[in-house]
Amino acid sequence: MSTKTLVVYYSYEGSTRAIAQTIAQALDAEILECRPVKDISSKGLMKYVWGGRQVIFKTRPQLETFEKNPGNYDTVIIGTPVWAFSYAPAIRSFLSQANLTNKKIGVFCCHEGTKGKTLANLKKGLSDNTIIGENDFLNVVKNKQENITKAKTWASNLKDKITEAGK
Ligand SMILES: Cc1cc2nc3c(=O)[nH]c(=O)nc-3n(C[C@H](O)[C@H](O)[C@H](O)COP(=O)(O)O)c2cc1C
Repeated sequence: MSTKTLVVYYSYEGSTRAIAQTIAQALDAEILECRPVKDISSKGLMKYVWGGRQVIFKTRPQLETFEKNPGNYDTVIIGTPVWAFSYAPAIRSFLSQANLTNKKIGVFCCHEGTKGKTLANLKKGLSDNTIIGENDFLNVVKNKQENITKAKTWASNLKDKITEAGK
């Protein structure tokens, strides 16, 4: 039986988008970007201040209306940049809006060396689902090709898990 897969991501500066697009293409999956109606707009050090603040206060920024309904997919792959050692606020919004249950889930993050509890925290918010894989991508801007290759390899590994005991 065929299964439907959705890759959901938030990206502030493009790294998570690049990895999400690679995975979606490799899995022949659909893709959904979480776009805050009003995102942080800072550059330089101030982006860490405003972004970090949102993580600490567990802010859930309002997202633009989803073009796809995550509930309609058997498998959902979720990607986030690491913000203040955790997942980005837009993904917090996604989790509470989509309220996923009984899905096969893959999680990944992009970071610059300190991912902290990002994936553990993300999985905590997905406890009514089956986690089929997790991965992290370090310094995507600096090591683009290496990370794209890593994403393709991971996707082919996920493919087996998506189809096994398939729905
Ligand atoms: C607000 C903010 C907080 C960040 N906090 C961390 C962090 O705690 N650890 C880390 O390794 N990188 C951190 N970063 C760097 C990003 O995780 C990294 O550059 C990531 O690849 C960006 O993904 P994106 O291009 O999809 O937005 C932070 C970046 C921002 C904007």
